[in-house]
Amino acid sequence: MDAYRAYLREMGTSTSPGARSPRSDVFDELEALLQDPCAMPMCLPMDFLESITGNFSEVQELGRGGYGVVYKGLLRNGKAAIAVKKLYDTHLEDGQFQNEVTYLIGLRHRNIVRLVGYCAESRWEATKVGNRYVMAEVRKRLLCFEYMNNKSLNKHLSAESCGLEWHVRHEIIKGICRGLHYLHTDCNMVHMDLKPENILLDDKMVPKISDFGMSRLFGQQQSQIVTQSRGGTRGYMAPEYIDKGLISAKADIFSLGVIIMELMTGSRDYPWGSEADSRHFVETVTRNWRRRLEKAEQLHTPLDTAIQQVNECISTGLRCVDPDPKTRPAVWDVIQMLDAVESTEPCSGTSKAPPIRTPPAAATAPTTQSSMITAMRVVYIGALTFNLYLLLPLLFV
Ligand SMILES: Nc1ncnc2c1ncn2[C@@H]1O[C@H](COP(=O)(O)OP(=O)(O)OP(=O)(O)O)[C@@H](O)[C@H]1O
Ligand SMILES: [Mg+2]
Repeated sequence: MDAYRAYLREMGTSTSPGARSPRSDVFDELEALLQDPCAMPMCLPMDFLESITGNFSEVQELGRGGYGVVYKGLLRNGKAAIAVKKLYDTHLEDGQFQNEVTYLIGLRHRNIVRLVGYCAESRWEATKVGNRYVMAEVRKRLLCFEYMNNKSLNKHLSAESCGLEWHVRHEIIKGICRGLHYLHTDCNMVHMDLKPENILLDDKMVPKISDFGMSRLFGQQQSQIVTQSRGGTRGYMAPEYIDKGLISAKADIFSLGVIIMELMTGSRDYPWGSEADSRHFVETVTRNWRRRLEKAEQLHTPLDTAIQQVNECISTGLRCVDPDPKTRPAVWDVIQMLDAVESTEPCSGTSKAPPIRTPPAAATAPTTQSSMITAMRVVYIGALTFNLYLLLPLLFV
């Protein structure tokens, strides 16, 4: 792998058999885009993506999901990288690709994954059907994201006794809430597939919400939609969505609650029944965390504050998974509850910086309203249709 990287550095291209050398202006433009948080995602040529992923080699595979395989795409200096998600051929029809591109293109927030590029190319290839050859259109759809060093949250989940420290888990929960608040309030959007696999973590463990294939955009006055299709992931889907196909921001709150449980205990289990069960659960989780925190050599947050935070977090998580959507808090209420117990000063002797208090909708670039996202969608679909019309006459030559 090191030899491969060295070669890449030297040649400014990849070693993959069959992949042509990418044009250096594409590298230049992409590398500049990665440096500029406000830059728009760019349309990337297929041969460029083949080249930087070693022709979609297994060695560069980051993971597989329900809709595609994700590869690490190495840029010229071998250090910078992007994540390239190549959608399965079977999922090119169902609107996931258009959804992701047109929604993500307008989103800018520290806790939302950044779309850096996309590719939608079609080639006509001779394919054998029975005894004869037919010309078939082979379509490729790819999405390119900023590369997340620490991959997805599911790879970091563990019980209270081990794994990530409390203050890291607490910051991750707060980051997810801020990203969700931006989606719900600034963008009028619901995610509908929140789960640890769709929360990516950067090198500083800052969480970024990803995967907008199932997301829905609401009109200004709209707060819920009823659907027949119930795509999503069992265990994270709200009961009213499973039973009645009801989509609302409260469905995301349910998923958030399950993620909070998992982040705090390593398990998706929580009590459904009586108040006594809930109280017992909160006490047990708080006690487990107290045990770990008391043993810690260095504390990032004063012990009492950390224990209060644990208590507040697990109680809030339980409110989020309430079977009745009306009883679940809005994401802004969750943020307020979590921020209510904040450390005022770090412990003496701590080597790390105190947690930074950022406003919930703290975007890295100017926030984009849902009208802009809708406009992008129209422009993008318009451009695709226009290209199609240009290509049509060629098919009859
Ligand atoms: N931007 C990224 N940077 C680094 N790793 C990534 C990135 N995006 C995805 N991955 C890795 O690739 C894996 C597969 O991602 P993908 O979104 O295709 O599937 P999933 O989230 O596991 O399932 P689903 O298809 O239901 O969303 C992720 O679990 C993650 O580990
Ligand atoms: Mg995913």
